[in-house]
Formats: sequence, structure tokens, C-alpha cells
Amino acid sequence: MEKLVFRAEFEIYERLDDLPVDIQELYTHAREARDRAYAPFSDFTVGAAVLLGDGQIVSGNNQENASFPVGLCAERTTIHQAASRYSDPLIKTLVVVGGARSKDNPEPVAPCGVCRQAIAQYELRQNCAIPIYFKGGEGPIYKASSVADLLPFTFDDSYL
Ligand code: THU
Repeated sequence: MEKLVFRAEFEIYERLDDLPVDIQELYTHAREARDRAYAPFSDFTVGAAVLLGDGQIVSGNNQENASFPVGLCAERTTIHQAASRYSDPLIKTLVVVGGARSKDNPEPVAPCGVCRQAIAQYELRQNCAIPIYFKGGEGPIYKASSVADLLPFTFDDSYL
């Protein structure tokens, strides 16, 4: 029997002020987008924003539905929107902020499994890693340098 061990490194920033200014600006967009989230069923609101290669910023939020699985997470709303508005955009960075509307949550909100898979497809398309910053409503910001660190054994086109 052999063992395979995954190792991943995450940067942790205590405050938004500790982040580079372009990431702080992305977070301003993500927080504004979070305020426009439609989450009447979970009351859990999430905002996301991406910085594109040409400097444009696209933001989005979670959109829920009475038929629960129909709803979409903030991350996919955002990255799919960017790719629909601009052909083959280079996604340089993704930031995420979220939590329950009713209480403070210091724990960072990482993209869900489905969103990780979606982000992985964009990394493949652009052949370039997408750094992901994620935070709760309060508390520290975590940075992963690629979705690969959040999704080992990613399923991709090479299996098809
Ligand atoms: N949600 C996101 O938008 N992103 C995540 O990374 C986690 C979950 C949304 C989906 C749903 O509308 C609500 O949060 C509760 O799961």
C-alpha cells in the first residue's frame, strides 16, 4: 500500500486593508453585489467579483429559486457572466464574500464543490491559474493560488 498526500498552502489576511489595493477594490464590488443577492430561502447571501485581463471587473451574487436546485451560486453567476459578456476573457482573480444575513460569520466562505468544478474549467480554458480570495461577512480573508488547492483530483477534459 502506498499513500498519496496532498499539500496546499493558503495565505491568510486578517483585514481587508492588508490586501493589495486592486483586491480591495474587487471586494468593494463583491460586497455591493452581495447586497443585491436574492436569497429568500436560505437567507445566506454571497457576492463575488472577478478582475479580467483588461482591467474590467464583473460581479455577481447568488440567485435562489423556490425549486431549490435551480438556484445559482454567486461564483458561477459571476464567472459565467464574465465569459458570456467577453469572449475568452482572462480571469485574473476571483473574490468571494458571504454569510448568513442574520448573524456575523467570521469563517471564510469557500466556493462550493460545484463552483470549484466550474472554476476549474475556466482555469483549463485560459491555461492559467485563478487565485481565489474568500471570506465570511467578518473575519479573515483566505487566498488559494488555484482552485487545484481546493479540488484535488479534478475531473477534466482529459478523461473524456
Ligand atoms: N452559495 C454561494 O453562492 N456560494 C457558495 O460558495 C456557497 C453557497 C449560495 C447558494 C445558496 O443560495 C446559499 O448560498 C446557501 O447555500
